[in-house]
Amino acid sequence: MPISIRHALFVVTLTACLSVALAARSSQEHQHPAEGGAHHHRTAAKLKNPVPPKAASVAAGKALYHKQCAGCHGDTGTGDGAMGEELNPKPSNLADADWKHGATDGEIFTVIRDGVKSTGMKAYGHKMTTHQLWDVVNYVRSIGPRTGPS
Ligand code: HEC
Repeated sequence: MPISIRHALFVVTLTACLSVALAARSSQEHQHPAEGGAHHHRTAAKLKNPVPPKAASVAAGKALYHKQCAGCHGDTGTGDGAMGEELNPKPSNLADADWKHGATDGEIFTVIRDGVKSTGMKAYGHKMTTHQLWDVVNYVRSIGPRTGPS
C-alpha cells in the first residue's frame, strides 16, 4: 500500500477515535447546572418503577418511611423531623413539588438507594430490598402533588 494512502487511513482512524472520545465526554451522566441547584440524573430518570403504586405498596412504603425516614423528613414529609434540625443541608420537604435530585420515580429511587454524598441523606440500598425501596418511592410520591413523568 502506498505510503500516502496508509497515512490517509491512519488520519481517518485517528479522527474517528477522537470524535468517539469527545462524544463520550460531552454526554456526562450527572448534570449539575449550578452547584447545589436542582439537577437531573439521566440514567436514574430512565429507571422504570416495576411496582405499581397500589394501596398495598403505598401502605408498606408508609410503614418503612415511619421507621426509617420520618425522624428527619417528618411525619408528614415536610422535612421537620427532630433528627434533621442540626443538619445542613436540611432534610428535604418531600410533600412539596420541588425535587432537587429529580422528580421521576427512578430519580427518587436512586436518591434513597444511594443517598446524597456529604449530606445527612444516607444510602438505604443495603437496608431494604429493591421492592421495599420502590414501596417507599410509591409512598413518597403519594404524599405530595404528582409532578413530572414517572
Ligand atoms: C438523618 C436524616 C435523614 C434520614 C433518616 C433520611 N433522610 Fe432523606 N434527606 C436528608 C437530607 C439532609 C436530604 C437533603 C439532601 C440534599 O439537600 O441534597 C435528604 C434528601 C432526600 C430526598 C431528595 C429530595 C429531593 O428534593 O430531591 C429524598 C427523596 C429522601 N431524602 C428520601 C428519604 C427516605 C425515603 C428516607 C428513608 C428511607 C430518608 N430520606 C431518610 C436526610 C435524611
